[in-house]
Amino acid sequence: MSSNILITGAAGYVGGSIIADFLSSSSPVLKGSRITAAVRSDEQAKLLSESGINVLQLDLTDEKAVVESLVKHNINIVIHTASSLDLTLALNLLAGLAEQQKASGSKAYFIHTSGLSAFCPETGWPQGVMKDSGPIFETEKQLADSFSLRKTDVTITETAKALGITSFIVVPSTVYGKGTGQWNQLSVIFPIAVQASIKQKSVSKFPEDGNIAGVHISDLTELYGLIVKKILQGSGDTIPNGTHGHYFAIAHEMAWWETLGRLAAAMEARGLVASSETQVWTSDEAAAEATGVPAIFVEIFFNSSANIIVDNAFKLGWKPTWDKARFFENIDDEVVSVLELGKAKSSLIDSLFLAAKN
Ligand SMILES: NC(=O)c1ccc[n+]([C@@H]2O[C@H](COP(=O)([O-])OP(=O)(O)OC[C@H]3O[C@@H](n4cnc5c(N)ncnc54)[C@H](OP(=O)(O)O)[C@@H]3O)[C@@H](O)[C@H]2O)c1
Repeated sequence: MSSNILITGAAGYVGGSIIADFLSSSSPVLKGSRITAAVRSDEQAKLLSESGINVLQLDLTDEKAVVESLVKHNINIVIHTASSLDLTLALNLLAGLAEQQKASGSKAYFIHTSGLSAFCPETGWPQGVMKDSGPIFETEKQLADSFSLRKTDVTITETAKALGITSFIVVPSTVYGKGTGQWNQLSVIFPIAVQASIKQKSVSKFPEDGNIAGVHISDLTELYGLIVKKILQGSGDTIPNGTHGHYFAIAHEMAWWETLGRLAAAMEARGLVASSETQVWTSDEAAAEATGVPAIFVEIFFNSSANIIVDNAFKLGWKPTWDKARFFENIDDEVVSVLELGKAKSSLIDSLFLAAKN
Protein backbone atom coordinates (compact mmCIF):
# COMPACT_ATOMS: atom_id res chain seq x y z
CA MET A 1 0.00 0.00 0.00
CA SER A 2 1.53 3.35 -1.01
CA SER A 3 0.95 5.96 1.63
CA ASN A 4 1.26 9.56 2.65
CA ILE A 5 2.11 9.87 6.32
CA LEU A 6 1.64 13.15 8.18
CA ILE A 7 3.59 13.63 11.42
CA THR A 8 2.31 16.46 13.59
CA GLY A 9 4.50 18.11 16.23
CA ALA A 10 7.37 17.57 13.79
CA ALA A 11 9.49 20.25 15.45
CA GLY A 12 8.94 18.60 18.81
CA TYR A 13 10.98 16.03 20.71
CA VAL A 14 8.87 12.97 19.87
CA GLY A 15 7.63 14.01 16.42
CA GLY A 16 11.06 15.21 15.29
CA SER A 17 12.67 11.96 16.43
CA ILE A 18 10.03 9.87 14.62
CA ILE A 19 10.79 11.75 11.40
CA ALA A 20 14.55 11.30 11.79
CA ASP A 21 14.04 7.61 12.52
CA PHE A 22 11.75 7.05 9.53
CA LEU A 23 14.08 8.96 7.19
CA SER A 24 17.09 6.89 8.25
CA SER A 25 15.18 3.60 8.21
CA SER A 26 16.38 0.85 5.91
CA SER A 27 12.89 -0.67 5.83
CA PRO A 28 11.69 -0.87 2.22
CA VAL A 29 8.11 -0.50 3.49
CA LEU A 30 8.84 2.84 5.14
CA LYS A 31 11.05 3.98 2.29
CA GLY A 32 8.13 3.50 -0.10
CA SER A 33 5.92 6.01 1.71
CA ARG A 34 5.90 9.78 1.57
CA ILE A 35 6.50 11.63 4.80
CA THR A 36 5.01 15.03 5.47
CA ALA A 37 5.88 17.07 8.55
CA ALA A 38 3.47 19.54 10.16
CA VAL A 39 5.04 22.50 11.97
CA ARG A 40 3.92 25.95 13.04
CA SER A 41 6.69 28.49 12.44
CA ASP A 42 8.44 29.81 9.29
CA GLU A 43 11.81 28.95 10.78
CA GLN A 44 10.86 25.33 11.55
CA ALA A 45 9.30 24.90 8.09
CA LYS A 46 12.47 26.19 6.41
CA LEU A 47 14.80 23.97 8.44
CA LEU A 48 12.75 20.82 7.92
CA SER A 49 12.28 21.44 4.18
CA GLU A 50 16.07 21.40 3.87
CA SER A 51 16.04 17.71 4.84
CA GLY A 52 14.08 17.00 1.68
CA ILE A 53 10.71 16.16 3.18
CA ASN A 54 7.36 17.67 2.44
CA VAL A 55 6.50 20.28 5.08
CA LEU A 56 3.11 21.74 5.93
CA GLN A 57 3.06 24.94 7.94
CA LEU A 58 -0.15 24.48 9.79
CA ASP A 59 -1.84 25.64 12.96
CA LEU A 60 -3.72 22.50 13.91
CA THR A 61 -6.43 24.54 15.67
CA ASP A 62 -7.56 25.80 12.24
CA GLU A 63 -10.04 23.12 11.15
CA LYS A 64 -10.54 24.43 7.61
CA ALA A 65 -6.81 24.62 6.93
CA VAL A 66 -6.22 21.16 8.40
CA VAL A 67 -9.00 19.49 6.39
CA GLU A 68 -7.94 21.20 3.14
CA SER A 69 -4.28 20.28 3.66
CA LEU A 70 -4.96 16.62 4.40
CA VAL A 71 -7.15 16.29 1.30
CA LYS A 72 -4.74 18.25 -0.93
CA HIS A 73 -1.76 16.14 0.15
CA ASN A 74 -3.66 12.81 0.09
CA ILE A 75 -2.74 12.08 3.71
CA ASN A 76 -4.03 8.67 4.78
CA ILE A 77 -1.94 8.06 7.92
CA VAL A 78 -1.52 10.64 10.69
CA ILE A 79 0.92 10.26 13.57
CA HIS A 80 -0.20 12.92 16.02
CA THR A 81 2.40 14.09 18.54
CA ALA A 82 1.51 17.79 18.76
CA SER A 83 -0.73 17.41 21.82
CA SER A 84 -1.93 14.59 24.05
CA LEU A 85 -4.42 16.88 25.71
CA ASP A 86 -5.91 19.34 23.23
CA LEU A 87 -8.83 17.48 21.71
CA THR A 88 -9.50 20.16 19.07
CA LEU A 89 -6.29 19.36 17.23
CA ALA A 90 -7.07 15.63 17.05
CA LEU A 91 -10.69 16.22 16.00
CA ASN A 92 -9.57 18.54 13.19
CA LEU A 93 -7.12 15.90 11.96
CA LEU A 94 -9.79 13.19 12.13
CA ALA A 95 -12.16 15.45 10.13
CA GLY A 96 -9.41 15.85 7.51
CA LEU A 97 -8.78 12.10 7.35
CA ALA A 98 -12.53 11.45 6.98
CA GLU A 99 -12.71 13.87 4.03
CA GLN A 100 -9.63 12.35 2.44
CA GLN A 101 -11.07 8.87 2.93
CA LYS A 102 -14.25 9.97 1.13
CA ALA A 103 -12.36 11.67 -1.68
CA SER A 104 -9.88 8.85 -2.33
CA GLY A 105 -11.80 5.75 -1.26
CA SER A 106 -8.68 4.55 0.56
CA LYS A 107 -8.62 3.65 4.25
CA ALA A 108 -7.31 6.17 6.82
CA TYR A 109 -5.37 5.57 10.05
CA PHE A 110 -4.81 7.80 13.07
CA ILE A 111 -2.07 7.20 15.64
CA HIS A 112 -2.52 9.38 18.71
CA THR A 113 0.05 10.04 21.44
CA SER A 114 -1.27 9.97 25.01
CA GLY A 115 0.56 10.01 28.37
CA LEU A 116 1.03 7.55 31.20
CA SER A 117 -0.44 9.92 33.81
CA ALA A 118 -3.91 8.93 32.52
CA PHE A 119 -3.24 5.41 33.83
CA CYS A 120 -1.83 6.16 37.31
CA PRO A 121 -3.67 5.64 40.62
CA GLU A 122 -2.59 9.20 41.52
CA THR A 123 -5.07 10.48 38.86
CA GLY A 124 -7.84 8.06 39.83
CA TRP A 125 -6.91 5.00 37.73
CA PRO A 126 -7.70 1.80 39.71
CA GLN A 127 -4.97 0.18 41.79
CA GLY A 128 -3.81 -3.21 40.59
CA VAL A 129 -2.13 -4.58 37.53
CA MET A 130 -3.77 -4.49 34.08
CA LYS A 131 -2.50 -5.70 30.69
CA ASP A 132 -2.74 -3.25 27.80
CA SER A 133 -4.60 -5.97 25.92
CA GLY A 134 -7.17 -5.93 28.78
CA PRO A 135 -10.13 -3.59 29.35
CA ILE A 136 -8.10 -0.38 29.10
CA PHE A 137 -10.58 1.50 26.90
CA GLU A 138 -13.60 0.49 28.99
CA THR A 139 -11.83 1.62 32.18
CA GLU A 140 -10.67 4.86 30.56
CA LYS A 141 -14.23 5.56 29.44
CA GLN A 142 -15.65 4.96 32.90
CA LEU A 143 -13.08 7.37 34.38
CA ALA A 144 -13.00 9.86 31.50
CA ASP A 145 -14.61 12.75 33.38
CA SER A 146 -12.06 12.68 36.19
CA PHE A 147 -8.95 13.39 34.07
CA SER A 148 -8.86 15.33 30.81
CA LEU A 149 -6.16 13.17 29.19
CA ARG A 150 -8.46 10.14 29.52
CA LYS A 151 -11.37 12.12 28.10
CA THR A 152 -9.25 13.07 25.07
CA ASP A 153 -8.21 9.44 24.43
CA VAL A 154 -11.78 8.16 24.69
CA THR A 155 -13.27 10.88 22.46
CA ILE A 156 -10.60 10.26 19.81
CA THR A 157 -11.23 6.50 19.81
CA GLU A 158 -15.01 6.95 19.58
CA THR A 159 -14.87 9.70 16.94
CA ALA A 160 -12.45 7.72 14.78
CA LYS A 161 -14.72 4.67 15.00
CA ALA A 162 -17.77 6.72 14.01
CA LEU A 163 -15.87 8.11 11.00
CA GLY A 164 -14.60 4.68 9.89
CA ILE A 165 -10.98 5.60 10.67
CA THR A 166 -8.76 2.98 12.33
CA SER A 167 -7.14 4.45 15.42
CA PHE A 168 -4.30 3.57 17.78
CA ILE A 169 -3.19 5.19 21.02
CA VAL A 170 0.51 5.10 21.82
CA VAL A 171 1.19 5.79 25.49
CA PRO A 172 4.80 6.81 26.09
CA SER A 173 6.08 6.35 29.62
CA THR A 174 8.86 8.65 30.86
CA VAL A 175 10.91 9.22 27.74
CA TYR A 176 14.65 9.81 28.07
CA GLY A 177 17.62 10.25 25.74
CA LYS A 178 18.54 13.06 23.37
CA GLY A 179 16.03 13.44 20.54
CA THR A 180 17.16 13.17 16.95
CA GLY A 181 14.84 15.75 15.43
CA GLN A 182 15.96 19.08 14.02
CA TRP A 183 14.34 21.29 16.62
CA ASN A 184 13.51 20.32 20.20
CA GLN A 185 15.79 17.46 21.25
CA LEU A 186 14.98 17.56 24.96
CA SER A 187 12.38 15.43 26.68
CA VAL A 188 10.51 16.63 29.75
CA ILE A 189 10.89 14.83 33.08
CA PHE A 190 14.66 14.32 33.35
CA PRO A 191 15.62 17.65 31.77
CA ILE A 192 13.33 19.44 34.24
CA ALA A 193 14.78 17.44 37.14
CA VAL A 194 18.30 18.32 36.02
CA GLN A 195 17.50 22.03 35.62
CA ALA A 196 15.76 22.20 39.00
CA SER A 197 18.72 20.43 40.63
CA ILE A 198 21.21 22.86 39.07
CA LYS A 199 19.12 25.75 40.41
CA GLN A 200 18.82 24.23 43.89
CA LYS A 201 22.34 22.76 43.94
CA SER A 202 20.78 19.48 45.07
CA VAL A 203 18.63 16.67 43.70
CA SER A 204 15.28 16.35 45.49
CA LYS A 205 12.74 13.55 45.80
CA PHE A 206 9.25 13.13 47.23
CA PRO A 207 8.96 11.56 50.70
CA GLU A 208 7.52 8.28 49.42
CA ASP A 209 9.31 6.10 46.91
CA GLY A 210 7.50 4.67 43.90
CA ASN A 211 8.24 3.14 40.51
CA ILE A 212 8.86 5.07 37.33
CA ALA A 213 8.30 3.45 33.94
CA GLY A 214 10.76 4.48 31.25
CA VAL A 215 11.56 4.24 27.57
CA HIS A 216 14.44 5.55 25.48
CA ILE A 217 13.38 7.82 22.64
CA SER A 218 14.85 5.42 20.04
CA ASP A 219 12.72 2.56 21.40
CA LEU A 220 9.65 4.79 21.39
CA THR A 221 10.13 5.80 17.73
CA GLU A 222 10.65 2.12 16.92
CA LEU A 223 7.17 1.38 18.29
CA TYR A 224 5.53 4.05 16.08
CA GLY A 225 7.50 2.56 13.18
CA LEU A 226 6.20 -0.95 13.89
CA ILE A 227 2.58 0.22 13.87
CA VAL A 228 3.08 2.16 10.64
CA LYS A 229 4.81 -0.81 8.98
CA LYS A 230 1.85 -3.05 9.88
CA ILE A 231 -0.52 -0.51 8.32
CA LEU A 232 1.61 -0.27 5.18
CA GLN A 233 1.76 -4.07 4.94
CA GLY A 234 -2.04 -4.21 5.02
CA SER A 235 -2.54 -5.47 8.59
CA GLY A 236 -3.57 -2.16 10.16
CA ASP A 237 -7.08 -3.46 10.71
CA THR A 238 -6.07 -6.85 12.11
CA ILE A 239 -3.57 -5.75 14.77
CA PRO A 240 -5.19 -4.39 17.98
CA ASN A 241 -6.84 -1.05 17.14
CA GLY A 242 -9.69 1.23 18.19
CA THR A 243 -11.12 0.21 21.56
CA HIS A 244 -8.38 -2.46 21.79
CA GLY A 245 -5.62 -0.29 20.37
CA HIS A 246 -3.60 1.05 23.32
CA TYR A 247 0.14 0.51 22.89
CA PHE A 248 2.07 1.29 26.07
CA ALA A 249 5.70 2.17 25.46
CA ILE A 250 7.09 0.89 28.75
CA ALA A 251 10.52 -0.64 28.29
CA HIS A 252 11.43 -1.01 31.96
CA GLU A 253 10.68 0.17 35.46
CA MET A 254 12.95 1.62 38.11
CA ALA A 255 12.52 3.07 41.58
CA TRP A 256 12.28 6.87 41.73
CA TRP A 257 14.65 7.17 44.70
CA GLU A 258 17.32 4.98 43.13
CA THR A 259 17.00 6.87 39.83
CA LEU A 260 17.29 10.27 41.49
CA GLY A 261 20.23 8.94 43.56
CA ARG A 262 22.01 7.96 40.32
CA LEU A 263 21.24 11.38 38.88
CA ALA A 264 22.62 13.06 42.01
CA ALA A 265 25.86 11.05 41.73
CA ALA A 266 26.28 12.02 38.06
CA MET A 267 25.58 15.68 38.83
CA GLU A 268 27.92 15.75 41.83
CA ALA A 269 30.69 14.30 39.64
CA ARG A 270 30.24 17.34 37.38
CA GLY A 271 30.21 19.76 40.32
CA LEU A 272 26.62 20.76 39.58
CA VAL A 273 25.19 19.79 42.98
CA ALA A 274 26.80 19.89 46.38
CA SER A 275 26.20 16.25 47.31
CA SER A 276 25.40 12.86 45.83
CA GLU A 277 22.78 12.50 48.60
CA THR A 278 19.23 13.40 47.58
CA GLN A 279 17.09 15.80 49.63
CA VAL A 280 13.34 15.52 50.30
CA TRP A 281 11.05 18.27 48.92
CA THR A 282 9.64 20.27 51.83
CA SER A 283 6.25 20.64 50.08
CA ASP A 284 4.55 20.29 46.69
CA GLU A 285 4.71 24.09 46.40
CA ALA A 286 8.51 24.05 46.83
CA ALA A 287 8.77 21.31 44.18
CA ALA A 288 6.46 23.30 41.87
CA GLU A 289 8.51 26.47 42.35
CA ALA A 290 11.78 24.69 41.56
CA THR A 291 10.54 22.63 38.60
CA GLY A 292 8.09 25.06 37.00
CA VAL A 293 5.32 22.42 37.00
CA PRO A 294 1.94 23.46 38.50
CA ALA A 295 1.69 22.35 42.15
CA ILE A 296 -1.39 20.20 41.57
CA PHE A 297 0.51 18.16 38.96
CA VAL A 298 4.03 18.13 40.35
CA GLU A 299 3.78 14.91 42.33
CA ILE A 300 1.91 13.16 39.48
CA PHE A 301 4.72 14.28 37.19
CA PHE A 302 7.67 13.29 39.35
CA ASN A 303 6.36 10.53 41.57
CA SER A 304 3.58 8.59 39.87
CA SER A 305 3.65 4.99 38.78
CA ALA A 306 1.41 2.96 36.50
CA ASN A 307 0.79 -0.75 36.86
CA ILE A 308 0.32 -1.56 33.20
CA ILE A 309 1.76 -4.71 31.64
CA VAL A 310 2.82 -4.34 28.03
CA ASP A 311 1.32 -6.94 25.74
CA ASN A 312 0.23 -5.24 22.50
CA ALA A 313 3.62 -3.75 21.61
CA PHE A 314 5.48 -7.02 22.30
CA LYS A 315 2.98 -8.91 20.13
CA LEU A 316 3.91 -6.54 17.27
CA GLY A 317 7.55 -7.55 17.77
CA TRP A 318 8.70 -4.51 19.79
CA LYS A 319 12.11 -5.18 21.33
CA PRO A 320 13.36 -2.22 23.36
CA THR A 321 17.14 -1.99 23.34
CA TRP A 322 17.38 0.13 26.52
CA ASP A 323 16.78 -1.34 29.97
CA LYS A 324 17.31 -0.04 33.50
CA ALA A 325 20.99 -1.01 33.62
CA ARG A 326 21.76 0.72 30.32
CA PHE A 327 19.86 3.82 31.41
CA PHE A 328 21.73 4.04 34.72
CA GLU A 329 25.08 3.52 32.99
CA ASN A 330 24.26 6.43 30.70
CA ILE A 331 22.36 8.70 33.09
CA ASP A 332 25.05 11.36 32.69
CA ASP A 333 23.73 11.80 29.10
CA GLU A 334 20.60 13.38 30.60
CA VAL A 335 22.77 15.96 32.31
CA VAL A 336 24.91 16.58 29.21
CA SER A 337 21.81 17.13 27.04
CA VAL A 338 20.59 19.88 29.36
CA LEU A 339 24.03 21.51 29.52
CA GLU A 340 24.22 21.43 25.72
CA LEU A 341 20.65 22.31 24.83
CA GLY A 342 19.47 24.51 27.70
CA LYS A 343 15.95 24.78 28.99
CA ALA A 344 13.40 22.09 28.17
CA LYS A 345 10.51 23.55 26.22
CA SER A 346 7.57 21.26 26.20
CA SER A 347 4.00 21.82 25.13
CA LEU A 348 3.17 19.34 27.87
CA ILE A 349 4.01 21.90 30.55
CA ASP A 350 1.99 24.57 28.68
CA SER A 351 -1.01 22.23 28.66
CA LEU A 352 -0.58 21.47 32.37
CA PHE A 353 -0.78 25.17 33.17
CA LEU A 354 -3.89 25.42 31.00
CA ALA A 355 -5.45 22.40 32.73
CA ALA A 356 -4.51 23.79 36.18
CA LYS A 357 -6.22 27.11 35.31
CA ASN A 358 -9.44 25.40 34.20
N1 LIG B 1 8.40 13.72 26.11
C1 LIG B 1 7.85 12.87 26.97
O1 LIG B 1 8.48 12.34 27.90
C2 LIG B 1 6.39 12.51 26.81
C3 LIG B 1 5.89 11.47 27.59
C4 LIG B 1 4.56 11.14 27.46
C5 LIG B 1 3.73 11.83 26.59
N2 LIG B 1 4.26 12.84 25.84
C6 LIG B 1 3.35 13.57 24.95
O2 LIG B 1 3.82 13.50 23.63
C7 LIG B 1 3.52 14.71 22.93
C8 LIG B 1 4.80 15.20 22.31
O3 LIG B 1 5.73 15.45 23.33
P1 LIG B 1 7.06 16.21 23.03
O4 LIG B 1 7.94 16.00 24.20
O5 LIG B 1 7.52 15.86 21.67
O6 LIG B 1 6.53 17.74 23.03
P2 LIG B 1 7.18 19.00 22.29
O7 LIG B 1 8.63 18.82 22.12
O8 LIG B 1 6.68 20.21 23.00
O9 LIG B 1 6.52 18.95 20.83
C9 LIG B 1 5.19 19.28 20.55
C10 LIG B 1 5.17 19.96 19.19
O10 LIG B 1 3.80 20.14 18.82
C11 LIG B 1 3.66 21.42 18.25
N3 LIG B 1 2.30 21.96 18.46
C12 LIG B 1 1.68 22.19 19.63
N4 LIG B 1 0.47 22.75 19.40
C13 LIG B 1 0.34 22.88 18.05
C14 LIG B 1 -0.66 23.40 17.19
N5 LIG B 1 -1.78 23.94 17.67
N6 LIG B 1 -0.45 23.38 15.85
C15 LIG B 1 0.70 22.86 15.36
N7 LIG B 1 1.69 22.35 16.12
C16 LIG B 1 1.52 22.37 17.45
C17 LIG B 1 4.68 22.29 18.97
O11 LIG B 1 4.98 23.37 18.11
P3 LIG B 1 5.92 24.62 18.52
O12 LIG B 1 7.33 24.11 18.31
O13 LIG B 1 5.51 25.66 17.55
O14 LIG B 1 5.62 24.95 19.95
C18 LIG B 1 5.84 21.34 19.19
O15 LIG B 1 6.78 21.42 18.15
C19 LIG B 1 2.98 15.70 23.97
O16 LIG B 1 1.59 15.83 23.82
C20 LIG B 1 3.32 15.06 25.31
O17 LIG B 1 2.30 15.31 26.25
C21 LIG B 1 5.57 13.19 25.92
